[in-house]
Amino acid sequence: MKIHIETDRLLLRDLIAEDAQAMFEMDSDAEVHTFLGNNPIASLDEAKINIAFIQKQYIENGIGRWAVVEKESGEFIGWSGFKFVTDVVNERTGYYDLGYRFLKKYWGKGYASETAIASLNHGFTKLDFKEIVGIADVSHIASNSILKKVGLIKRNEFEYDGTLHNFYSLTREEWENEK
Ligand SMILES: CC(C)(COP(=O)(O)OP(=O)(O)OC[C@H]1O[C@@H](n2cnc3c(N)ncnc32)[C@H](O)[C@@H]1OP(=O)(O)O)[C@@H](O)C(=O)NCCC(=O)NCCS
Repeated sequence: MKIHIETDRLLLRDLIAEDAQAMFEMDSDAEVHTFLGNNPIASLDEAKINIAFIQKQYIENGIGRWAVVEKESGEFIGWSGFKFVTDVVNERTGYYDLGYRFLKKYWGKGYASETAIASLNHGFTKLDFKEIVGIADVSHIASNSILKKVGLIKRNEFEYDGTLHNFYSLTREEWENEK
């Protein structure tokens, strides 16, 4: 199993079938889905399908969200990293989106920020990305705070699934200038 990123407290590796139970615990939690369209999953099978969908992206797009493992406990805590977006979103397509989603018991420990900083670094230096995008519901305080804190720049607001969202991006040149 490939480990893509190691931070002080976390490992980011490919998702595997064995993550299904923890993925189900995370994605069946209504609170986790507050800013994700309020559509939590209802069965373990849906979690298995979601993992298989991301594994297909690894092959077809060369990238997809990675499982995040807490080094101290060895536990799966959620996912983070990049998705190559092929839909049209905010009149954009064909971009790398930075995201994160964790089981509620792991919130508030700085883990999303830790994975976001490491992912940006990895995306620009190892994966040769020219630009990284981030999107968050305008009311999602935590996610907007993370995207701004790690240096993404707000470009505009747009309607996404009927809700106002902020669109952030950062080019490699801007990232290098920020350092
Ligand atoms: C969003 C999420 C990933 C944040 O994870 P986290 O590991 O708790 O985030 P961090 O601990 O790195 O905190 C990031 C910032 O948000 C703040 N924050 C965290 N939870 C918050 C809350 N409920 N309300 C307000 N601020 C909050 C933190 O204080 C921190 O602020 P700082 O950057 O000024 O220090 C997590 O809540 C989650 O998985 N939510 C469900 C999925 C989701 O919404 N994903 C994002 C979609 S855009």
